[in-house]
Amino acid sequence: MKLAIIGTGYVGLPTGVGFAELGTNVVCVDKIPAKIDCLNRGELTLFEDGLDELFRKNVASGKIRFTLDMQSAVSGADVVMLAVGTPPHPVTKEADLQYIYAAAKELAQYLDRYTVVATKSTVPVGTGDEIEKIIHEVNPSADFDVVSIPEFLREGFAIHDFFNPDRIVIGANSERAKEVMRKLYAPFVDKCSFLWVKRRSSETIKYASNAFLAMKIHYINEMADFCEKSGADIREVAKGMGLDTRIGNKFLNPGPGYGGSCFPKDTNAMAQMGRKYGSILSLIETTIAKNDERKAKMGQRVIDTIKSNPEGKIAVLGLAFKGGTDDCRESPAIDIVKEMIKHSHNICVYDPKAMQNAKAILGDNVKYAASMYDACENADVMVILTEWEDFKYIDLSSIKQKMHSAKIVDLRNIIDGQKAVELGFEYQCVGKA
Ligand code: UDX
Repeated sequence: MKLAIIGTGYVGLPTGVGFAELGTNVVCVDKIPAKIDCLNRGELTLFEDGLDELFRKNVASGKIRFTLDMQSAVSGADVVMLAVGTPPHPVTKEADLQYIYAAAKELAQYLDRYTVVATKSTVPVGTGDEIEKIIHEVNPSADFDVVSIPEFLREGFAIHDFFNPDRIVIGANSERAKEVMRKLYAPFVDKCSFLWVKRRSSETIKYASNAFLAMKIHYINEMADFCEKSGADIREVAKGMGLDTRIGNKFLNPGPGYGGSCFPKDTNAMAQMGRKYGSILSLIETTIAKNDERKAKMGQRVIDTIKSNPEGKIAVLGLAFKGGTDDCRESPAIDIVKEMIKHSHNICVYDPKAMQNAKAILGDNVKYAASMYDACENADVMVILTEWEDFKYIDLSSIKQKMHSAKIVDLRNIIDGQKAVELGFEYQCVGKA
């Protein structure tokens, strides 16, 4: 089988490497020459746990290659996967489909045999119909079907999730396309459930799933606020809720709000779709508004800790939108730091992987430390914004000696609060007074 993947980002690259590892011949196309050069030199363009080794192995064996040339990738392909970005439109917040439509237009010219065009990018319901129309217009004799194959990979766990999916959802309207997709996904047959649905259902499943998870986080965050006021402990409450298998114990960790390249974008796009179809999705609308409010509120919470000493140093640990990734897109940590910058000129930040990406956003407004311990030197408060394992095991005694005042604001609930208090820290977390 020959698989062409258009787009070598956080979805396209791990997916390509994963299929190559399973024995499929993969060609990845991208528009950015520097990216393709880098990948062809055997260097990765993004950080993803476990990707490096598989990438090198499959580049060396020739199972995966990278090109700028759409024609060489698409001609002869059994499946062409679209994995380009669908970023939010800056004004309407709808998914911006210009890249996916441009890719469809370009690939259409090179379809030279029956090909399945599979949309992996997250796209609004009905986009498959549009792609079909575009390809017909550009190449009326093309023999093809368009299917939707939504991606559920989590950043930081993309390789793990690729090989161990919970489910594979395929939205296909033709038997012929289903046959090709069955072949491509044959290695997963005994591993997870397959759900064959209408293309429009498949497009909706992706948004409905991400919006549901975002709502679940919003719910637990709101419950955490309640616990802070009522004397309950959110960790105990979440545990008690999670033991009910109907609720499940995942995504019940309160924090500074959700972020990343998916949840903010997908909740907004889903809310827009609801408005477009005259079916207001009020739970999603509320989730979006409350999540934005939360980030500002959390920034203020940190600032309040240095009220008596406004020149005091704030040490920020964590900038990525979650642990295990270098990605700062829509990171709550970045938004919270931005909020703090309005009130403080003395902020020093550290993240194990995301420094470069954060620098591009925060510029000279903050100082950058070489380690978590350096960041805390003479600090008046240490703030944890991303749930990196390193931070969990920070040596609190040595931090205490380095800091000017012993205060911790742990917005990810990862520090041993009891120990911090015993050591004399003023310790704040989320969801417990
Ligand atoms: C998400 C979906 O999980 C994945 O299925 C989809 O393909 C892409 O979007 P990702 O963006 O990688 O994946 O991150 P995820 O692990 O889901 O976390 C999203 C945000 O929610 C992060 O900011 C994270 O810190 C936050 N979160 C998650 C919480 O605040 N609490 C939780 O309990 C879980």
